[in-house]
Amino acid sequence: MEIVVKGGALLSEPSDLAVLACLEDTPLPAELAGLIESADFAGKARQQRLLYPRAPEGPKRVLLLGLGKAEKLSADGLRQAAATATRQAQELQVARLSFGLNGELALDPLRIGQALAEGFALGAYRFQRYRTDLSEEQKFTIEGATIVATADVEALQAGAATGQVIARGVAYARDLVNTPPNDLPPAALGEAAIALGQRLGLSVTVLDKPQLIAGGFGGVLAVGQGSANEPRFIVMEYGTAREGTPTICLVGKGLTFDSGGLSIKPADAMTTMKADMSGAAAVFGALQVVAELKLPLHVVGIVPAAENMPSSTAFRPDDVITTLSGKTVEVLNTDAEGRIVLADGLHYAQQYKPDAIIELSTLTGAIVIALGAHAIGMMATNQELADRVSRAGEASGERVWQLPLWDEYREMLKSEIADMKNIGGRPAGSITAAAFLANFVGDYPFVHLDIAGTAFAEKPTKPYDAPGATGVGVRLLSELLRGYAT
Ligand code: BES
Ligand code: ZN
Ligand code: ZN
Repeated sequence: MEIVVKGGALLSEPSDLAVLACLEDTPLPAELAGLIESADFAGKARQQRLLYPRAPEGPKRVLLLGLGKAEKLSADGLRQAAATATRQAQELQVARLSFGLNGELALDPLRIGQALAEGFALGAYRFQRYRTDLSEEQKFTIEGATIVATADVEALQAGAATGQVIARGVAYARDLVNTPPNDLPPAALGEAAIALGQRLGLSVTVLDKPQLIAGGFGGVLAVGQGSANEPRFIVMEYGTAREGTPTICLVGKGLTFDSGGLSIKPADAMTTMKADMSGAAAVFGALQVVAELKLPLHVVGIVPAAENMPSSTAFRPDDVITTLSGKTVEVLNTDAEGRIVLADGLHYAQQYKPDAIIELSTLTGAIVIALGAHAIGMMATNQELADRVSRAGEASGERVWQLPLWDEYREMLKSEIADMKNIGGRPAGSITAAAFLANFVGDYPFVHLDIAGTAFAEKPTKPYDAPGATGVGVRLLSELLRGYAT
């Protein structure tokens, strides 16, 4: 989708669909005076009215969108308005829309441009690769959006350019997650990493099973040993370690399918488990953004990838695994597999002496119970880093909510026969999972993001989300990394 910014007045330009996003209680432009009863549209958040001006010049259709009150309007409100605009354009089969704002927004024009571009592009996202039954109408895709503004054109343009890059990163992550697990086993995820590296000039290493055995990746191997689709360990490096350039490690859980293994999931809990590589997808998407924006950083993406299956070769409850770190884990439940592959991924990250390790995983059902779909669960070993991630969450609209990671939670993982157990019981299930991970990061500042509740939405509540993968994490990581780059 092509997004451009143009100086001018929205209602004087010809357009098949002009969308005017209006702050509450702001008078409408004079051109619309005879077209609507003022009582019918006050600009309340999410309010919509479609008008047909029937004038020889100017737009054929005008869609009024309410933004609510200026003081309550966030960048996410704009992102949602822009997504609603593209959804309406798709419905009306309009190839290009124009978009303008009515009222004085208390937001930085760079942020406005970025949020609008993200909203336009993400609102148009659909995953149709496996549909052979679509009508022409269903296949119709909007081609572009033009933001028409009387001021700040350059800043809007610069923001929109960034927003488009980020939206493409999100769409890429969504595509990876939405791809069914029969078409995206660990080897295919490895190939995707190589393709990404070639496209963007990243150095990519994909370790296969013999290399994992030689290297002692006991966690990834154990989780993957029950599947005919062998595990992989993926490393993608952008930039190089240099004085004065921060090194950030991004670690993503890459379970291309999680059946639970021998501790098998009930049927209803097993569907959507193709999304158990959403952490990995966020890392892929963020690396694409970082490379396209050419941020002056050293970013290493690390993805342990495996398929968790029950079979006669599967790892068992009661097994003791020696992870890459040398630390041993008593397996009590093979469905708590994410933390086991991540143990290897996090330990591997330490060799880069990172300024921060940010790890994303669809780790626990417990975080779905705690926070639902409206926040990422965050646990951290370093409060400065946690605060940084929180701020990036607010700014990107991918909010995080922190839970404690006190020593008492680590006690809950004590094992008689190994260094630790892989589960701590039902209480504080998300925190004990994080406490497990914290054993593998050394003293490096570490943030764990549990995206189990936010990665996949069968019935999304935001207009910029489509049924299926949300691509969560890409916007948050992009914001965080851009913060390190300035
Ligand atoms: N992949 C799941 C977590 C999950 C649940 C993701 C729901 C998305 C939606 C994870 O591997 C898992 O099964 N965790 C178990 C841990 C338990 C056995 C301690 C869980 O949360 O039930
Ligand atoms: Zn599991
Ligand atoms: Zn899992």
